[in-house]
Amino acid sequence: MTITVLDDSGAVAAALAERVASALRDKPDAVLGLASGRTPVDGYAEMQRLHAAGQMDWSRASTFNLDEFAGISGDHPGSFRTFMEEHLFNGVNLRPERVHFLNGAAGDLDAECEHYESAIAAAGGIDLQLLGIGSNGHIGFNEPGDDLPLRTHRVTLMESTRRGNAALFGNDPRKVPTEALSMGIGTILHARRIVLVATGEKKAECIRQTINGRITTRVPASLLQVHTDVELLLDREAASKIR
Ligand code: F6R
Repeated sequence: MTITVLDDSGAVAAALAERVASALRDKPDAVLGLASGRTPVDGYAEMQRLHAAGQMDWSRASTFNLDEFAGISGDHPGSFRTFMEEHLFNGVNLRPERVHFLNGAAGDLDAECEHYESAIAAAGGIDLQLLGIGSNGHIGFNEPGDDLPLRTHRVTLMESTRRGNAALFGNDPRKVPTEALSMGIGTILHARRIVLVATGEKKAECIRQTINGRITTRVPASLLQVHTDVELLLDREAASKIR
């Protein structure tokens, strides 16, 4: 694991945008795995700025988002798809047919998960996967547990995760769907390169466990220790408990 500690969340955002911009410079048709959540938002804003300045061309890139709520459609105001439209897609020249999202409103959610795995494989696999981390150590919606599903799957969200996403649903955790679809831990670990971003003191403990703890399904991010090309972009607060 490469651990990069930066002064503040602004520097983390700039570094995240730079990692993606350089991936697109090296491989204009790169397949990017994207995360929603608050942490990468400033990084996405910086990517939009780089695009507007003519320094980032997304025209040949493809994207696959990590996860989506079940039971709502992509155009629901609380969906991760709406979130990504607002924070990234609206401001870059991604081709709509190269944007891939799990459809939480699909009639057969298991078939939808299988279809997503096939689509990732058909695109040639993920070149660069961006991740955030939940304070419980989740990546994607792979929640801590006795075991972790390998591939894209349905997941029952923990109460803490529903509370963490309440802002998308009028600040009411009860309105956050109870179920979601998520890439599996194997799907994530198959990405050729992974960049995880974490900022703020609330993430310090899960970051310590991810880096210094043993590998355990109780801290899904700890499985990143087995990957050969992972970078953690952290601000000082998120890095404050690393030994
Ligand atoms: C989002 C996702 C989640 C978030 C995590 C951190 O697509 O998969 O794992 O990355 O919950 O969320 P924030 O950044 O809001 O703290």
